[in-house]
Amino acid sequence: MVLIGFVDALAVALLMCILARFVAGRRRKHLPPGPSGWPLIGNVLGMPTSHEWQTFAKWGEKWGDVISITLLGQPVVILNSSHAAVDMLDKKSAIYSDRPTFPVCGQVIGYDRTLVLLHYGPVWRETRRLFSKTIGTRDSLMHLSDRLERGGHRFLTRLMAQPETLFQQVRGFTGASILSIAYGYNVEREDDELIRLVDKAVEEFSLASAPGAYFADALPILIRVPAWLPGAGWKRRALAWRRDLEAMCDLPFNHTKQQMKTGKASPSFVSMNLIPDTDSGREFLVKSAAASLYSAGADTTVSAICSFFLAMMCFPGAQKKAQAEIDRVVGNDRLPRLNDRDELHYVRALIWEVLRWQPIGPLGVPHRLTEDDTHAGYFLPKGTIVIANIWRMLRDPSRYPNPEVFNPDRFLPSNDAEPEYDPRHIVFGFGRRVCPGSQLAETSLFLICALSLAVFDIAKPIVDGNVVEPSLEYTTGTISHPVPFECSVKPRSAKASALVAAAMSDSVF
Ligand code: HEM
Repeated sequence: MVLIGFVDALAVALLMCILARFVAGRRRKHLPPGPSGWPLIGNVLGMPTSHEWQTFAKWGEKWGDVISITLLGQPVVILNSSHAAVDMLDKKSAIYSDRPTFPVCGQVIGYDRTLVLLHYGPVWRETRRLFSKTIGTRDSLMHLSDRLERGGHRFLTRLMAQPETLFQQVRGFTGASILSIAYGYNVEREDDELIRLVDKAVEEFSLASAPGAYFADALPILIRVPAWLPGAGWKRRALAWRRDLEAMCDLPFNHTKQQMKTGKASPSFVSMNLIPDTDSGREFLVKSAAASLYSAGADTTVSAICSFFLAMMCFPGAQKKAQAEIDRVVGNDRLPRLNDRDELHYVRALIWEVLRWQPIGPLGVPHRLTEDDTHAGYFLPKGTIVIANIWRMLRDPSRYPNPEVFNPDRFLPSNDAEPEYDPRHIVFGFGRRVCPGSQLAETSLFLICALSLAVFDIAKPIVDGNVVEPSLEYTTGTISHPVPFECSVKPRSAKASALVAAAMSDSVF
């Protein structure tokens, strides 16, 4: 009797496997091609655990620009070319603009209130409107020029005094400018408590949003387990991070609200958008939007500036050309200013090349399809997650010949060739979800790059007569950073040092 039961169970299990394969096979026929997976679990076992963009690019070589995998029944489509991304995410943005749900990072920790993870809908639309009004265009940023330039002068002064603190100064500049733009908050000390708090929350976001960070993301029912249960340490930590996120949203916001009451608030994202006697729903929206500025803008800009310093020490020829342009256009009697940007063509091309050479968000942020779609004869069901492999697109040899070579000239017109494809159309993402902070990112990047090139010689350090080579490795995760490297930063001349000192004494902090 027992034996018959066992044989029956085996037969049923076998039948289920055949059925699952049959169903998966039928779905595969419709979905774009991709590596084969297992019944029910799909490609879970074949997923890379780090630097996924490189594996996805290799899969692309075998299966093409648009490939698909399934993870526990969830279809995921990976786009390896910008043509495919434009055709789908840009041209059909009405149905490709939602975000997937992130059970732990979004729901348990609470990042689903920030713009990056908001689902497509009215709250997302209103939040984007606030962003575009405040930081959406070059003109909207003009009133921030003085503030940003003062921050840039402070960056130069501190780096000149302590060249070994490059990474700390980059974080300090970025954090202080975003806190000033978002809340009108003036960071006075290097060890500012608010900077520490918001940096902590941003680092936690980066860890929590990394693919595969939590088993509960694959099995969302697990987010309901009580935090006191043995083995639920991840949940206790997630709840602690939720408190950090709430502090990051509340503390700087309450500071501005208080200042507004006493009429002392400096103009900022919050003071411009928080009308008096606003209801609690609107207040929550403005508060979350302001926190989104920091959570999405700080770490990204930090990574880009660090990549700039890395590129300058590795490619001294490009550095010298940019310095020669600054000397010619700006001269040696003043520091570069933001309104020099349109004249400094090579510096601008160099910044685009930094963004192309080492993309900060190699896989962007996933989109989610809200209706069934067909693309190039393939069927993509509603709910499909779509990932743009930005890293691969920026190394596409048909768009960027010799993609591994750092060459700003590729973006300048010449007698022999047209400039190569503007990488900003890829780096900042696609469709209605395209980065709303791109103008601010480019402005900050231009400022720090132009000021640093005008004042410093950036080189590989020499220790005991030997050149210290950087590893050129990048971290894995949603935002990819260069692995910390040593860098020699020295004033180009006594005059350069004097210009920095003079600019600093003119600035009122
Ligand atoms: C070099 C620096 C930056 C890069 C490379 C970058 C790149 C990106 C990318 C790839 C996306 C996803 C787009 C998509 O889903 O297709 C994104 C979204 C976003 N970025 Fe940026 N970003 C940068 C700086 C900033 C800054 C400075 C801010 C704000 C101060 C910002 C705010 C945001 C926000 C709020 C989103 C989410 C938009 C949405 O989901 O609707 N970013 N960014």
